[in-house]
Amino acid sequence: MGNVVRLAEVLGALSRALDLTEGQPPGHCVRCCWIGVNIGRAMGLSEQQLGDLYYSLLLKDLGCSSNAARICDLYLADDLSFKNDFKLLDGSLPQVLRFVLSHTGVNTHLAQRFRSIIAILQNGGQIARELVETRCHRGAEIARQMHFSAAVALAIEDLDEHWDGGGKPVGKAGEDISLFARIALLAQVVDVFHAASGRHAALREVGNRSGSWFDPVAVAAFQAVAEEDRFWDMLSRSDIEETVLDMEPGQKAALADDDYLDDIAQAFARVIDAKSPFTSGHSERVAVFTDLIAEEMSFDFSRRRWLKRAALLHDIGKLGVSNCVLDKAGKLDDGEWAAMRRHAELSQAILSRITSFADLSKVAGAHHERLDGKGYPNGLSGEEIDLETRIVSTADVFDALTADRPYRGAMPVSQALAILWEGAGTSHDPACIRALERALRKSELAAA
Ligand SMILES: [Fe+2]
Ligand SMILES: [Fe+2]
Repeated sequence: MGNVVRLAEVLGALSRALDLTEGQPPGHCVRCCWIGVNIGRAMGLSEQQLGDLYYSLLLKDLGCSSNAARICDLYLADDLSFKNDFKLLDGSLPQVLRFVLSHTGVNTHLAQRFRSIIAILQNGGQIARELVETRCHRGAEIARQMHFSAAVALAIEDLDEHWDGGGKPVGKAGEDISLFARIALLAQVVDVFHAASGRHAALREVGNRSGSWFDPVAVAAFQAVAEEDRFWDMLSRSDIEETVLDMEPGQKAALADDDYLDDIAQAFARVIDAKSPFTSGHSERVAVFTDLIAEEMSFDFSRRRWLKRAALLHDIGKLGVSNCVLDKAGKLDDGEWAAMRRHAELSQAILSRITSFADLSKVAGAHHERLDGKGYPNGLSGEEIDLETRIVSTADVFDALTADRPYRGAMPVSQALAILWEGAGTSHDPACIRALERALRKSELAAA
């Protein structure tokens, strides 16, 4: 069963997940792509360059999940709104102070909040540099794993460098900075300011930072593009994603075959798992346990391959859940639980944007349903939960039990299996548990 999908369609959907992690309104990366490619055209870039620019813009936030936990920890803040507002900051002291006061420790005591503010003022530069560094390196590494060119990886690596050398993490200046990174930085500021305060605010901001943050040549190209109403109208349209997918540069749209889709799913699983220290490696392990069960149940090759992708991506919606909830050591309150449970629906919403992932998105959306109807989000029961979903959900819980969690250490395999058996028929399908147990026994893991 050959499966060929447009690369831009897959990346467009996955960029939605990245928007969630960055706390941006949905469509941020897609809108940046529109803005940046228009600037690139006005600068007279070649088709080949426009191709690299296009993917750089869609994937610019690939490394962003890797610093979410740290932001939450350091600033005692909600990483999602923190990141959004951080993009609006220009670095002046009153603005920084206002920002810090409004974002640190909304849920903590005043003294603790005060200490975290002092820590930020003392170490802010260093901490911010490290955060950006992690994000850039991780992002570039994942882009390479997804087979993108060295130019795309470099664009992600240089995304936070500024024209005058005042950026992060290296402090590169002028034309030493990747051209695509210079355009992407400009595009993201245009989108953030346009979304928050309109086109004049965006134009003003770009003008103010020309020569400091931004390459003046790119600024001039943007100002020329900004003369056209059509450019701005598109930014407010709900169908902008279709237009952006259609403008994928090159002779014909790039297609992703099955091997490539596997690599993209695997790379994205790493983005998901990087979000929280407690989910490190989770998606990849769930994929392994899922495949062990599917093999035991004699699924054919193409079905196993399909299901493995579903397992790799089942928690993609977690990118939209704050680390203050994901990493919380204590009990979650009602609001936090609701935020946590939303991840299943978000997974489905993100994956269903890819036409050929429609079936796969159902598995991701239902991986927390239970046979007795007491699961979420829809309280499905019995036959309403298909076999593929039951397999992923069994693999998911098995990994959750055998991995370290915020509230307890890892559990031996035998004990995890015993817990699964306690929920056999109510929570999980006994056939899936049996298959998992058999597969583990074959690999001599069951006794561990
Ligand atoms: Fe989950
Ligand atoms: Fe999971």
